[in-house]
Amino acid sequence: MPTATWNRHHILSLADFSAVEYDAVLQTAASFQEVLSRRTKKVPTLQGQVVANLFFESSTRTRSSFELAAKRLSADTLNFAAATSSMTKGETILDTAKTYLAMGTDIMVIRHREAGVPNAIAQEMDRLGVRVCVLNAGDGQHEHPSQALLDLFTICTLIDPTRPRIELLKGKKIAIVGDILHSRVARSNIWSLTASGAEVHLAAPPTLLPKLFAEYFSEETAGEFQPSIPKRQLFLHWQLEPALRDADFVMTLRLQKERMTAHLLPSLREYHQLFGITRAKLQLCKPNVKVLHPGPVNRGVEISSDLMDDPEFSLIQAQVTSGVAVRMALLYLIGSGKV
Ligand code: NCD
Repeated sequence: MPTATWNRHHILSLADFSAVEYDAVLQTAASFQEVLSRRTKKVPTLQGQVVANLFFESSTRTRSSFELAAKRLSADTLNFAAATSSMTKGETILDTAKTYLAMGTDIMVIRHREAGVPNAIAQEMDRLGVRVCVLNAGDGQHEHPSQALLDLFTICTLIDPTRPRIELLKGKKIAIVGDILHSRVARSNIWSLTASGAEVHLAAPPTLLPKLFAEYFSEETAGEFQPSIPKRQLFLHWQLEPALRDADFVMTLRLQKERMTAHLLPSLREYHQLFGITRAKLQLCKPNVKVLHPGPVNRGVEISSDLMDDPEFSLIQAQVTSGVAVRMALLYLIGSGKV
């Protein structure tokens, strides 16, 4: 395993991730990808450690991917699903976390529909003085660091499978299209892709990409833990065409109907016509453009069904595969006791 320097105990956001940290994740994930191609796909790295998946919100790929990653590292795994837990009897989130702590949990992987819950649990663990690592597996509309890191790994390994590293993205044009307002995936990706030197072009109808969205990444909001993004690296478009023109990668996002509090779109048909990604619209991009989607997909809405299944353009299955190696890397980096 690479001996990358790693000083982070929790992974809650990518806003303050450094170039060295991104490269450590990519390099470590590449080693685990190699392990996963062997006949015996398991390593003893986290033997005896307990990884608890605390998913207070539904998930297919993120939860299964973290579980498999932990198992491939030989950790013991605990799975929690809010609907079948004591939360239905009134137990609070912090008390649930403390229950898992009392069972000897070393790493808590947390998903919640409210932004800030993984941070709150991490703070509580630090306050108690226990060495429990917290990994944010998606909190409300805030962040989804492991998804953005697996997207980064998928893109970088496509460019150079032998040595994925962020410098490969310098000057690349990446379009992020769809429900950006409600997307934690977009927020985490904006941090990682701009930190890698890519140009990020956001495209959506104004109701799903308010002008004010740019403020979140601007100098006004910059602070110790949240840097600003240079204006020449982040662009907002309310039409699809300028975002797609000469793009190297197109990332489509699911319309998050469950988070929409008002009727933000005239109809799904019109949305697909204007912002849905199809083979014809990809003609505007670079000839060897690739399309990503974090899943779950609304087929025929944000992306046409045939394009989604076309291996010439679609990286969607590769993203899911990369997810296991990247999550092994994250569990290894925070859990191997170096911090
Ligand atoms: C995303 C999520 O849950 O944030 N999916 C995922 O983790 N693969 C995106 C989504 O729900 O649309």
